[in-house]
Amino acid sequence: MGFPIISPYATLLSAAGLVIVLAIFKFRNRRTLPYPPGPPGEFLIGHLRVIPFEDSPTAYLNWGREYSSDVLYFNTLRQPIIVLNSVKACVDLLDKRGANYADRPRFVLLELLGWGMTLTWLRWSPKMQQHRKMLQSPFMKSKVSQYQSLQMKETHRLVKGIMKSPPDWELELRRFSIAVVANVGYGVDINTVDHQWVDLSDAAGYATSHAGAPGGTIVDRFPPVRYLPDWLPGLRALKYAHDNKSAIEEGATNSSFIHNLLEKYISNEKQGLPNEFTLADIKGSAAAIIIAGSDTTMTTLVVFILMMMCNQKVQKKAQAEIDAAIGLDRLPEFEDLEGLTYLNYIRLEVLRIAPLSPLGIPHRNLKDDEYKGMLIPKGSIIYQNVFAMHRDPDVYSNPYDFDPDRYIPKSEGGRGEPFPVGNFGFGRRVCPGQYLANNTVSIVMATMLSTLNIDWPVGPSGMPTPFEPGWSKIGQYHPLEFQCTMEPRSEKAKDLVYKSI
Ligand code: HEM
Repeated sequence: MGFPIISPYATLLSAAGLVIVLAIFKFRNRRTLPYPPGPPGEFLIGHLRVIPFEDSPTAYLNWGREYSSDVLYFNTLRQPIIVLNSVKACVDLLDKRGANYADRPRFVLLELLGWGMTLTWLRWSPKMQQHRKMLQSPFMKSKVSQYQSLQMKETHRLVKGIMKSPPDWELELRRFSIAVVANVGYGVDINTVDHQWVDLSDAAGYATSHAGAPGGTIVDRFPPVRYLPDWLPGLRALKYAHDNKSAIEEGATNSSFIHNLLEKYISNEKQGLPNEFTLADIKGSAAAIIIAGSDTTMTTLVVFILMMMCNQKVQKKAQAEIDAAIGLDRLPEFEDLEGLTYLNYIRLEVLRIAPLSPLGIPHRNLKDDEYKGMLIPKGSIIYQNVFAMHRDPDVYSNPYDFDPDRYIPKSEGGRGEPFPVGNFGFGRRVCPGQYLANNTVSIVMATMLSTLNIDWPVGPSGMPTPFEPGWSKIGQYHPLEFQCTMEPRSEKAKDLVYKSI
């Protein structure tokens, strides 16, 4: 018996039919999948007026509880927004399905601020991967020990500066935070608080961190708004960009660039060889180190100082640990850090209590995805609500209390609560500077606690006077300016610091 003859046309028709059926199935499947839950929006503008400009992480946290979901859906002017309120959801989507979630939304506001060619804001593209490669390799865990002598020297300068002029501790800290990344990135030595880069970075950091949640301002959600006059009501974020653009561009156009990249570039030029990076790439990556690395380190240390001032018992316990491990005859070194377990718990608790980027820096998914039977539509802005993750009462007891003891393992009679996750982001856009930053923060914490007492400011009664600290909750999460007292723990401690540099 012969085989039935199937004409090529019939084959083509069946294939076309199959494609149509699959497309319909996919379309219906997409349509039938519900969006994650969330509060009702308004006609046309969606949740534009529902999401608060200030302290949106807390609003998302509360909605998560109200709708019993760690994944929430919003839309503003038809732009879908997904908020992930748990570590599990972030790991499942941003880590495990990283390829789909490695894009960023377009940050129109930050483009206006002059950040266009900076890795943090680059969309998923060969250019972004190239920048990632440039910035990842020098800051890998195995390579950051090369910066330790610089970090030590700058830490000693910092503490000496504070001892010389305690009321200027914040300025000293700003100089320090810029000095580390400026030296790492540009080879520039910033040895005084009067250096022009201190002012410049201050202005740039302020402009960026006060502009609102990245990707979440009116200009980001509706780019044509950028052409409207910025005095119109509601365009505060745009005004910020206009007022502060030059501060960021001046920094980016400074003549000192990442030395070896520039050297390679010039050498290729001279030999007529093609260059892997353009000058704009070099300029952008150098600017990324300064801006992504200085304000973040500074704010983490300000939170640490605030927490030490407010939690005197914790401070004394950490000082006792340092004294027992190191003695009183020398300053802490990097080799000591591993033995300072309680100090490490303090660092982790500082990260937990005040995640600087409480919603992370948003990612964007390249195609539709399904998660727990819900649709994550292509092109969504994905916020990681680190603030909510760190305040989950099912994970952290009394989550609003600063309590480093929470990490003491159960085997040692403690509660064994998990170390906070998410301060440095997730997936393929995770912070490349995290190991450098952790080393900087740890050595400063150890040196300050070994040599200084941090206390409440002295009030009219002549006694340390407690007050309720304030927090800024627009964009970055950080303490409002505050006074504190910092005094050498002893003449010997002062002597050690003064002789160290
Ligand atoms: C305590 C200090 C720091 C904190 C809390 C921090 C936090 C973050 C966060 C949350 C992100 C976004 C990650 C994501 O999208 O998933 C990020 C990205 C980034 N960070 Fe950091 N960072 C710190 C220090 C640094 C330092 C010292 C550098 C410089 C070496 C740096 C360079 C960058 C860069 C270039 C990106 C963009 C990565 C990308 O978009 O692919 N950061 N950081």
